[in-house]
Amino acid sequence: MIIKSTIDRIMEATDIVEVIGEFVQLKKRGANYVGLSPFANERTPSFTVSPAKGIFKDFSTGKGGSAVTFLMELEKFSYPEALKWLAKKYGIEVEETVEAPENREEELRRESLMIVTAYAAKFFHESLLDTDDGKSIGLSYFKERGFSNDIIKKFELGYSPDQWEAFTGNAIKEGYKEQFLVESGLSVKRDNGTLYDRYRGRVMFPIHSFTGRVIAFGGRTLKKDKNVPKYVNSPESEIYHKSNVLYGLYFAKKAIREEDNCYLVEGYADVLSVVQAGIENVVASSGTSLTVEQIKLISRFTKNITILYDGDAAGIKASLRGLDMILEEGLNVKVVSFPEGHDPDSYVRSVGTNAFKKHIEENKKDFILYKASILLKEAGNDPIKKAEIIREIVESIAKIPDSIKASVFIKECSYILQIDERALLSELNKMRQAKAKKDGQQQQTNTRYAPQPDEPNFFDEPDVQEVVKEEYFQEKEIIRLLLLYGSRMIDWDGIANTYIGPFMIAELGDVTFVHEASKLFVELYRQEVENGVLPEDNYFIHHKNKGIVDLTIDLLTTKYTLSENWYEMHRIMIHDEQANMKAAILGAIFHLKKHKVEKILDGLRAELKTAVTETDQEILLNQYIRMKKVEKSISDFLGSVIIK
Ligand code: UTP
Ligand code: MN
Repeated sequence: MIIKSTIDRIMEATDIVEVIGEFVQLKKRGANYVGLSPFANERTPSFTVSPAKGIFKDFSTGKGGSAVTFLMELEKFSYPEALKWLAKKYGIEVEETVEAPENREEELRRESLMIVTAYAAKFFHESLLDTDDGKSIGLSYFKERGFSNDIIKKFELGYSPDQWEAFTGNAIKEGYKEQFLVESGLSVKRDNGTLYDRYRGRVMFPIHSFTGRVIAFGGRTLKKDKNVPKYVNSPESEIYHKSNVLYGLYFAKKAIREEDNCYLVEGYADVLSVVQAGIENVVASSGTSLTVEQIKLISRFTKNITILYDGDAAGIKASLRGLDMILEEGLNVKVVSFPEGHDPDSYVRSVGTNAFKKHIEENKKDFILYKASILLKEAGNDPIKKAEIIREIVESIAKIPDSIKASVFIKECSYILQIDERALLSELNKMRQAKAKKDGQQQQTNTRYAPQPDEPNFFDEPDVQEVVKEEYFQEKEIIRLLLLYGSRMIDWDGIANTYIGPFMIAELGDVTFVHEASKLFVELYRQEVENGVLPEDNYFIHHKNKGIVDLTIDLLTTKYTLSENWYEMHRIMIHDEQANMKAAILGAIFHLKKHKVEKILDGLRAELKTAVTETDQEILLNQYIRMKKVEKSISDFLGSVIIK
């Protein structure tokens, strides 16, 4: 864990405008900065940064928080990753507490492996650009394939000399441990215990993690010999889990988010050529069939995937079924194929960027329809095969979580397959019901294709929802007052001054909060007060818990605090509230208390109805009467303090 004083130093050094400015173009407007939301496609800027508060708020998606939250949202960093990113930017040394020994050891091993792979990437890259063999063999190969210097540099392409120990010998001389050379797959151990280079005479494609560190390699042979494997890839290791990695994602993620689409190709070369053509939102599954983890990785950045496959379509047929999982993740999948004999790499090089883009636009098909037409072609006129296909297609459609989208596909498939839409629908319903049964009772209501007409729906009953909502808002109002006024003094009776925060906390001692973030907020506030501290905005803005951060930002950035006529609104609204501070605070507390008491009364009434023994009834009745009195006194009190 990163220690608190390091976190404090990072927070102190962090200039939120500078950090966000690296990703979003910001313009100054009044005391704030505004720009286009990096989380949504928008034309008018609704993304606001307040340097004074050290927070941002994106009004189009509702996201908001500190610089750390921003990095976590945008770059999908974990909390420590975001902190480390900031530490690096501001040159702050990160101190971490020593973890449990086994974690620490594992962490060290991973770090050592990454240091070795980073060294190797540098070695191969330099060998490509600065050695005679590298230039005449490796570089000339890349040039022949049309890769520019920029692309070669950006992707850190390399060359591994055609000698047994060129890399290994150097690495050992530089002090890298054999253990890590072998574990990372860069070197292979002979029976006699000595090491040799795995990638002799190959051009090298380093594979980056999505935070940009080299974690593995693909090495392509330059020989035409069919008996030599075309690519040799790093083995699985503690830092490289093939199924969790997409080639090119580190370089593509920004563009994927901006374009709200991800092109998926098969090979390293495809990624390079497509990027070189100016299309940057592209990643490769690197020849393996797509995994759920890879899809989840993409879905953090966009819900739209466009698969670009080779002309021969052998690859796609193999993965037709595998792709169903993309549908299960709720993503939109389009498929584009290329003319016989072409892959995206060769096609974009032969026709150029514009024609390539045009081809994609004109030929992209929805995955399900694509699958339907391919399978149909295969089945020909065989009725049994056709029936099988229909089942399979409907099975795919049943995986789509959005029923409206599913019904559109049913319509289109009924057209392609020449089958009555109702027949497909009934098949779909059968599958959904079977699935719902499997998933258990609870899920059943969510996944059923069409709701049963006469079934009562709990959430449609207005009362229940209103009550829950009211409680939620009342609790939130308390938090708002704590945030805005907690550290101020108030003069209750012209004699004694008290801090508002501790006063409220004491008053709320007997109230149980139900809304999770509010509950935690009050708990944290109470703890701080008990430690003798009055927590300020910053404490909650930078809290580790996302619920706390969201709640705080939400309350600090209501329309009134960050909008352009902030000042006017602020003066009027808050002024009013301050004038009636006593009423506002006591009102909020006692409205909430009243609500809780009413809930208790409801509960007692229900229990009374079902109470069997007379003693039970009596006990309940006594409790009821007592609570009724409490309710009355709260009402009276509210009536006397609250003017509105
Ligand atoms: P391709 O054969 O299409 O390779 O395999 P490519 O990237 O287009 O390479 P060029 O154009 O012939 O130079 C697609 C991907 O499958 C993996 C690699 O990740 C490759 O990029 N692959 C292929 C292997 O891992 N091993 C192999 O032997 C072949
Ligand atoms: Mn190729």
